Amino acid sequence: MEEEPAMSTPTDIARHYTSGDLLARLEAKLREDGVDPACPTFDALAPYDQFHGRGIDATEDLAQDLEVSPTNHILDVGSGIGGPARYLARRFGCRVSGIDLTAEFCEVARHLTAQLGLTERIAFEQGDALAMPFDDAAFDGAYTMNVSMNIADKRAFFAEIHRVLKPGAWFRLSEIAQGPGGAPNYPTPWARTASSSFLATPAETYANLEASGFTIESQRDTAEAALAYAAHSRAVVDAGGKPPHRAVALVHGEIAEEAMANTGRALKEGCTVPIEMICRKADP
Ligand SMILES: C[S@@+](CC[C@H](N)C(=O)[O-])C[C@H]1O[C@@H](n2cnc3c(N)ncnc32)[C@H](O)[C@@H]1O
Repeated sequence: MEEEPAMSTPTDIARHYTSGDLLARLEAKLREDGVDPACPTFDALAPYDQFHGRGIDATEDLAQDLEVSPTNHILDVGSGIGGPARYLARRFGCRVSGIDLTAEFCEVARHLTAQLGLTERIAFEQGDALAMPFDDAAFDGAYTMNVSMNIADKRAFFAEIHRVLKPGAWFRLSEIAQGPGGAPNYPTPWARTASSSFLATPAETYANLEASGFTIESQRDTAEAALAYAAHSRAVVDAGGKPPHRAVALVHGEIAEEAMANTGRALKEGCTVPIEMICRKADP
């Protein structure tokens, strides 16, 4: 009988996202785009610093209808190289704290944030979302974009986010959920093999959020939007342009093409379904 691969540790997961030369690679890409890497703009970074499906479009969707004031302190769980955090801080003038397992991502996130003059409002911590170095009820809102696929213990993950939120605070989640079509092929952008991929069905995610104390206010399947985005990207490339979303190619180099092909196929065959959920911590 074939042996199941051992479940990945946080170190294995961070290794999956670490190249050791991410900043140099990003600077080379910016130069190819005709951008001076010493002073990039938000728009110049957007194709690279939003490391989730549909790139900046998905971040705009996440921020839609949010009521965030400049005095609010927001948490980004699994903040990557910080594109979503910078988007929110810039749009709402709020403070954002990001936490991420991958040290190299945190370093690049801090560097880009300083270049964009947002250091006063955004901080990045290297750490595990399952044991965050934040006080209870510290944040006015929290979000996590395409992170939970790396997390086996979903209830512990959501409970830890619930702990650090103020009563009445909002929580928005986007993730790649397990669809009815069976397991996807690997590598994918979030996992090299099945041993570090923990997909839950939308119903399981709903139940896990509720069990962790959240009320789910709405949920949305974004598969159609993802397919439309992929078709638009293909059209841009066919017309001789660069794909609008280039974060996977930046981070994953050699395996990026296969990871993106597997992602597209999994979506089309119903192995995965991207979802967004809007939740709230009760205000007793
Ligand atoms: C696909 S990337 C998304 C990054 C970012 N949310 C974005 O959308 O640009 C997944 C991120 O989750 C982080 N991650 C995975 N497991 C984590 C954990 N247990 N604690 C904190 N971050 C984690 C990874 O390091 C990686 O940065």
